[in-house]
Amino acid sequence: TGKVTLDYGFGNTANCESNITYIDGGNGILRYRGYPIEELARESTFIEVCYLLIYGELPDAPSLERFTHVIKRNRLLPEDFIAFFGAFPSNGHPMSVLQAGVAGLATYYEDTLNPLDPDQLDAATFQLLGKLPTMVSMIAKRAEGLPTLYPDSSRDLTEDFIRMTFGLPYQSYDIDPAMVRALDTLFILHADHEQNCSTSTVRFVGSSHANLYASVASAIGALSGPLHGGANEAVLRMLIQMRDTDMTVKQFVEKVKNKEEGIKLMGFGHRVYKSYDPRAAIVKESAHEVLSRLGKADKLLDLATELEEVALSDDYFISRNLYPNVDFYTGLIYRAMGFRMKMFTPLFAIGRLPGWIAQYREMIKDPATKIARPRQVYIGETERHYTSLRSRG
Ligand code: CMC
Repeated sequence: TGKVTLDYGFGNTANCESNITYIDGGNGILRYRGYPIEELARESTFIEVCYLLIYGELPDAPSLERFTHVIKRNRLLPEDFIAFFGAFPSNGHPMSVLQAGVAGLATYYEDTLNPLDPDQLDAATFQLLGKLPTMVSMIAKRAEGLPTLYPDSSRDLTEDFIRMTFGLPYQSYDIDPAMVRALDTLFILHADHEQNCSTSTVRFVGSSHANLYASVASAIGALSGPLHGGANEAVLRMLIQMRDTDMTVKQFVEKVKNKEEGIKLMGFGHRVYKSYDPRAAIVKESAHEVLSRLGKADKLLDLATELEEVALSDDYFISRNLYPNVDFYTGLIYRAMGFRMKMFTPLFAIGRLPGWIAQYREMIKDPATKIARPRQVYIGETERHYTSLRSRG
């Protein structure tokens, strides 16, 4: 009731108050719980950032140990759940399998489904933080027809995720600590981003008191789209297409500017940042570091660098405040690390999971929360009357 305001994409509408993440899009500032993203990326770890987002403060040593322990303990998937991965074609997109898998987890943990019971919500929180990376590594293995590996609690979480994704049973696997650190930092950079499409989805779905698994599964669906998390894969496909068709950067940029076939410069632009995305600045530096460390000169990195330079000096992009976003360089790093393209967005999901969970918990606890139910402006037919099939056409 009352006057309805039309606001496509909720560009001007806030659906909640939040203590979690602050963005100043004009000045390229991002903070989790008050801490600048640059400091967290440089000095913190992903597990600490998970704790920070969910509980609001950085953990002391015993709290971090307890938190890490409980997540490690929750990493094993139910043994019969593993058959689930075999039910999908091995080349099916990992995001679809992951979405189904996360929704399906709820069937195993029925005593963790009531979000209004704090103990049950904690249990669901730990189940997801533990199991989602295990699931992602198993999906990666299945896609290559290789045996899956079980978690090893003697290793740190990110290191063990890499082992489960790339290692083989009964074979030692040397893990480069620099690679672990680079991936951990990428997870930190993705960990929350206030009311983006997937996080709003978590809040929307959760506002009906749907359980955490159902809400996170919906968020995974939202994240899979190329305008959101799917952009990291789309950027790489775009670069490969440019390389393989010998199209010059200038020619490609012209196509984008002319909006030919609706082509966009993937990995560019953002609803909130109207200056350089601070995450992209860190990722760009890391891309150069990781590629040179792994000795993987990549023509695609040269193409991306040139593309950024050309775009940033072009009026089309300048006048619209379009800068590279977090997804522009991440795919190049994942690829250098050995991940297949289809695994890029699931990696984003691992990083974003603590943000989804923190936002869901904040939403559930906030007494002001209401079921999400936007209005519309109806522009269809006015009343008319049914005619029988015979009298139509
Ligand atoms: N390439 C070319 N033109 C663009 C782009 C782009 N990447 N992004 C925006 N524009 C143009 C758009 O066509 C519009 O032009 P005009 O005024 O002539 O119609 C203008 O810039 C404003 O764009 P918008 O579509 O109103 O912006 P939005 O806030 O609705 O969309 C966005 C934000 C991220 C969906 C969009 O910039 C985009 O599609 N980017 C490419 C996909 C991408 O990289 N997504 C990742 C986003 S960041 C991390 C994440 O969420 O995963």
